[in-house]
Amino acid sequence: MDWGLKNRLSRIIKPDTGRTVMLAVDHGYFLGPTSGLEVPRKTIEPLIPYADSLMLTRGVLRTSVPAESSIPIVLRVSGGTSILGTLSNEGITTSIKEALRLNVSGVALSIFVGSPHEKETLLGLSNLINEAEEYGIPVLAVTAVGKDMARDARYLSLCCRIAAELGAHFVKTYYCEEFEKVIETCPVPVVIAGGKKTPELDALKLAYNAINKGAVGVDMGRNIFQSEAPVAMIKAVRAIVHKGKSVEEAYEIFNKEK
Ligand code: R5P
Repeated sequence: MDWGLKNRLSRIIKPDTGRTVMLAVDHGYFLGPTSGLEVPRKTIEPLIPYADSLMLTRGVLRTSVPAESSIPIVLRVSGGTSILGTLSNEGITTSIKEALRLNVSGVALSIFVGSPHEKETLLGLSNLINEAEEYGIPVLAVTAVGKDMARDARYLSLCCRIAAELGAHFVKTYYCEEFEKVIETCPVPVVIAGGKKTPELDALKLAYNAINKGAVGVDMGRNIFQSEAPVAMIKAVRAIVHKGKSVEEAYEIFNKEK
């Protein structure tokens, strides 16, 4: 692997543990001012010290993260649709030149396997990889799921494997039953999304199960920033991901810190 690409990837997936706690705060790119992210700066600032990287759009990066910050950035570069339209019809919204100007450690794009726009999003991923690799920027493929698509191991293995085959350097997907099958058949590192807000204990179980079945980490959003105590929650998630703590130990950390 190219030195620059490897160096950037190691800012995201920490070499000392081989794992990562990414904080996803990119939801506004199709959801607008979603709950907990109404004023991004307020949400993001207290969490920065505990996140290994931030996943967000250029608009929120420029306006809501201090340029002096050393936190690695995974820039969302796909979008162009909203919750009111056809979500799967995303295109590329940000150039690689802009990604370099923003000094990012990686770029992220969603693929919509099985949707009417499957081909465009998969070719979009391939083109992004072609361009990003020229400058040593790793690409995170996000396996987006439509309302009607099953989030099972068969479907998610298909999505993750296709993303890896097209050259994605790491993949973000959902946790599911028989998640080990998704991991076994995906030759690049996998992180999981947290999904809709659930009770803290359930979100910690999800993180624990994903890590124990082979995910290298989480790229969690709502289950952290919509928590009653976001800082306590990210600390608890870190304890699972980086320190190998059990769900009970992590929940104790959450309760103590909140
Ligand atoms: C969706 O495509 C976005 O990347 C979200 O930021 C993502 O799914 C992660 O956030 P959450 O943990 O809230 O599901």
